[in-house]
Amino acid sequence: LPADEFFAANAHVALTYDDVTLATQYSEVLPRETRLETRLAENLVLNIPIISADMDTVTESRMAIAMALNGGLGLIHYNMPERQQLSEVSRVKYHVPGMIPDPIKVTPDQYIGDVVRMIEERRYGFSTFPVVDAEDRLVGLLPGHVVKPRYAQRKVAEVMTPRAQVHTINRKELGRDPIARADKFFTEHPGIHKLLVVDDEDKLRGLFTMNDVERISQERKSQFKPARDAQYRLVCGAAVSAVRNAFGELDRERILNHVAALVERGVDVVAVSTAHGHSKGVGETVRLLRDAFPELPIIAGNVTTAAGVEYLASCGANIIKVGQGPGSICTTRLVAGVGIPQLTALYVCSRAAARCGVTILADGGINKSGDIVKALTLADAVVCGGLFAGCTEAPGEIIEINGKLYKHYRGMGSLAAMRAGSAARYGHEDNPNQKVAPEGIEALKEAVGSVDRVLAQLIGGIQAGMGYLGAANLAQLKEKARYIRVTPAGMREAAPHDVIELKTNP
Ligand code: XMP
Repeated sequence: LPADEFFAANAHVALTYDDVTLATQYSEVLPRETRLETRLAENLVLNIPIISADMDTVTESRMAIAMALNGGLGLIHYNMPERQQLSEVSRVKYHVPGMIPDPIKVTPDQYIGDVVRMIEERRYGFSTFPVVDAEDRLVGLLPGHVVKPRYAQRKVAEVMTPRAQVHTINRKELGRDPIARADKFFTEHPGIHKLLVVDDEDKLRGLFTMNDVERISQERKSQFKPARDAQYRLVCGAAVSAVRNAFGELDRERILNHVAALVERGVDVVAVSTAHGHSKGVGETVRLLRDAFPELPIIAGNVTTAAGVEYLASCGANIIKVGQGPGSICTTRLVAGVGIPQLTALYVCSRAAARCGVTILADGGINKSGDIVKALTLADAVVCGGLFAGCTEAPGEIIEINGKLYKHYRGMGSLAAMRAGSAARYGHEDNPNQKVAPEGIEALKEAVGSVDRVLAQLIGGIQAGMGYLGAANLAQLKEKARYIRVTPAGMREAAPHDVIELKTNP
């Protein structure tokens, strides 16, 4: 059935992704020809409909850069001092594609033995390092072939390539297309694999590696272009908190100053992220921001009802986040007994959003590309936390347990995250250190490598789904979706069964 008939027929139950499947349809659309652009607000267009969640174990600048380079968006979390969040946003907005902005450096007086240990401890996959003095001025390059235990007693200064022989470029000479400039350099200097970027004072400002430059030059030919603003900078979002002052009132001045500083840094969208968006404080915050920044796209949430969407839209939000309790680390439904399974919530909210002229994001509970296809039949983009928390670009170190590699992932309503600052999101900002009922857990995710690889799998799945439905773009996906309920037996049938799996797919 089409959405309206299907959800009317199932009005007495709330459904989530695994409760339904989509019917295939006659198709002339090849998956690789499908288009995934999504317009979330008048001045916010993404090339893929995927957003990384504003969580402190998911999105800081590294993740946001990777998301934007792939055509999506990262929302920088707010569990950090405001100044640090501003600098995270700047890192994204001033990211030079392909350039490592703060390469790992060594100093001339270090022993090679220390460098070897550092590589082992931090698991670096490279062994060539720029050498800088105390003022960060370039004094040489330590080539990988001398970073060996047998040179352990030698000092870096004794074995490095001296400054005069190191290839550098002044960052002013990079121009508008730094990758093309670096590519030209590597073509003209066969055998040289590193190009260091310096400023007028010869301070180290970055590093290009030939591998990165070649990969990016190849990727430029790929289907999904990076998501950029009008000035050709990567897009970036940031979460803001509905903070209260000592009298329990909304701290208007602080919120306005914070967002003004974000806007000055070039932020493309702010997210007023809370567990209960249909509430006075969130509405007031959105209204405050809308009045002060008429052009700024505002995401607000989270809600799961039509009334919630209407309320936030009437306060001035452009994009509404839908989802209460579906997330992989969420316990809101268990702790508070509230929330609506995600597909039904998306349906209800999508109809309200269409009436109000706003867009919606499907936030939480997505753990496979098929879920994204189903979500996009109703929503304009998806927000994922758990799917990206195991990626190299997520904050935090890799942990080894019994030979397997993991990264930490925690709910923003977990005790640890609330202590670190996110209590306001759950309405507990007055006593984050006292006894509060956490609505999220701390967990581990298997380390899954780069977000590029994860996104390639997700996008491949979305495009396959669109091909099966004969949908050339996301608007057609919404029109063509036909839903049917799945029984537990149907769900079992959908996954590999009655075999011993030899190798799991990515
Ligand atoms: P996934 O399933 O992608 O979900 O891991 C990420 C989304 O979960 C929400 N979130 C929480 N919800 N308690 C909750 O009930 C929490 O502690 C929590 N932390 C995050 C959030 O919407 C995120 O995008």
